[in-house]
Formats: sequence, C-alpha cells, structure tokens
Amino acid sequence: MSAPPTEAGYDLHHHGDAEVGPGLVDLAVNVRAGTPPDWLRARIAASLADLAAYPDPAAAVAAVAARHARPEDEVVPTAGGAEGFVLLARALRPRHAVVVHPQFTEPEAALRAAGHAVDRVVLTGDLTLDPDAVPDDADLVVVGNPTNPTSVRHPAGLLAELARPGRTLVVDEAFVDTAPGEPDALAGRRDLPGLVVLRSLTKTWGLAGLRVGYALAPADLAQRLRAAAPPWSVSTPALVALAACSTPAARAEADAAARAMADDRAYLLGALDGLVEVRGTPAASFVLARTPGRTDVRARLRERGLAVRRGDTFPGLDAEHVRIAVRAPEITDRLVAALREVLR
Ligand SMILES: Cc1ncc(COP(=O)(O)O)c(C=O)c1O
Repeated sequence: MSAPPTEAGYDLHHHGDAEVGPGLVDLAVNVRAGTPPDWLRARIAASLADLAAYPDPAAAVAAVAARHARPEDEVVPTAGGAEGFVLLARALRPRHAVVVHPQFTEPEAALRAAGHAVDRVVLTGDLTLDPDAVPDDADLVVVGNPTNPTSVRHPAGLLAELARPGRTLVVDEAFVDTAPGEPDALAGRRDLPGLVVLRSLTKTWGLAGLRVGYALAPADLAQRLRAAAPPWSVSTPALVALAACSTPAARAEADAAARAMADDRAYLLGALDGLVEVRGTPAASFVLARTPGRTDVRARLRERGLAVRRGDTFPGLDAEHVRIAVRAPEITDRLVAALREVLR
C-alpha cells in the first residue's frame, strides 16, 4: 500500500492515528502513554459544570503568560497546535512561504488551503537545520523543534538566525517538553522579530481529543491571529486544561515524564543499533528509522501486530523510513524481535 498522492505530491493529511487499529500495538502515535493523568481528568470533568456559559480565556491566558514570562496580549489559546497553523495561514499574506521539511505536514496543508504557494527546504544527511538553505527573501518560514518525524532538535541559536525584520518565523514546539527543561525552546524569546511559537497540550498530556494549544507572538500579530479565529474556538474544558498544565507543578511532572522517556529512548536506540539506520540524533519521544532497500517493513510489522508510522507521507522521506514511538522496554523488545524476523 503506497500513500495516496495529492496535488502537493504527498498525503499531507495522513497521521499516525490512521496506522493503529484493533489488535495492533501502537508505536505510531506520539502521545505519551497513560495520559491524561487522573488529576487532569478530574479538573476537566469539573469544568463541565460551567458548560452553559461561553468560554472565558482570561485565566488560561494569565497562566500561559506567567509560564513564559510574557505579557498576556502575546498569548493566543488555540484549538490545538493545528488551529495555530490555520490562523497563521488566514492572517498572513506571504509572498514567499517556506516550510522546512521533513516535518509535520499540517502547516504546509494549511498554507495551501488558504491559497498560498509553498516552497520546501528539505533537510538531508543528519537532518540538522542549515539556516543558509532558507532563501533570503522568504517572508514566512515554518520549522518544527524538535521536529516531527525526525526527532532532531535544532539549537536555539541556529533558529534565531532565521528571524529577521520583514519575516514571520514560526517555530512549532509541540514536542519541546519531551526533554526536561525544554532545551532550545524559543517560547520565552521576545527579542526575535516576527517570532511565533506554537505549543500543543496533545502529546505530553494526552489531550488530542480536547483540542488545546496556544500561540505566542508579538502583540500585533497575536491580535491578528485572534481576529482570524472563529468565536470561542477553544472550549471551557480546554481552557481549564491549559491553565492546569501551565503551573510549575505540571511542568515538574512533564519534566519527570521526559526523564523517564529518555531512558526508554536510550533502550530503544540500543536495541535498534545494527538493525536499522537511525536518522539524525533523536531528541523527542520517537525515532526516525531507515531500512535501506526495504520498503515493506511497516507492512511486515503490521502483519506481526505492530503499528509504526509510515515515512513516505513526509516530503523528503520515502517508504524506506518509518517513525517509531518510544515505548516501555517490554514493547520495544517485541518490536525488535519482530524487526529481526522481518529483516532476516
Ligand atoms: C509536530 C506537531 N505539531 C503540531 C501537531 C498538532 O497537534 P494538535 O493540533 O493536536 O495540538 C502535531 C500533531 O501530530 C505535531 O506532530
């Protein structure tokens, strides 16, 4: 089964959740296992008592502003990171939009859907960012950090080189809290012109179904994003979750989860050593693997009850690539045993 091509040459709306199903072990979706935590479920459930009223973002905005030491008018709650891409595509009129690939494909899809032409800069080799590869005249640049599906984290200094007057630089930090202390995050940077940071609660907190994230942007651009949003697009339960996950205690919990994940990732990388080629230096909760000469690995693993995420829907990758979620060692053991059979 190959990916259905679109006008952009790739199925930009394909996501890992389409790979999972009954009877399959999920190594395709990058949402932290065992989430949302009970305390967060309870907070969300309690918010249902307030559903008769329209959502009021004030408390969530204040909590996010405090978390990132930014003024409240630079915070825009969104219905997931995905809505952030749509708001940007609606609010901006780029002459030369550039998306740095391989990366999450919804930003490019949102730009195309809004009628903007999109130029691709495709990273190769170890998949680290080369700021010189981005054309000087690009007035909109979108990059993920750490990047999905490569798991590569770009140094903050390299990303900062991309910011300049007359350009909007969008950094998708949906996975930045998968490392303790959020290294290389730009969310707190107010000195970089035109910087927009997008965040998501989906991955770390297991809230894909709630739709919650936020944008951080200079006040004038934040106002344009708010104006581009449908009224009340972020619900009361989502706003309650946003405030709850922005506290120091929630950040400490995310850091602890990130440390545990790093151990599981080290185990996975050790087990994959010599079996597949791991692209780049993985820094997030998944690993991009390549099996030179073999395009059937995903299908063969599926026959053995294991779902990994296909690579061929990402510009810059092909069917020799799969993305593997970091899981507990016993699941990794199952994966690696199956991989050995498949690659024998
Ligand atoms: C890199 C990246 N950014 C953003 C998103 C969007 O997440 P959400 O809209 O659920 O916040 C995803 C989801 O897969 C992602 O992988």
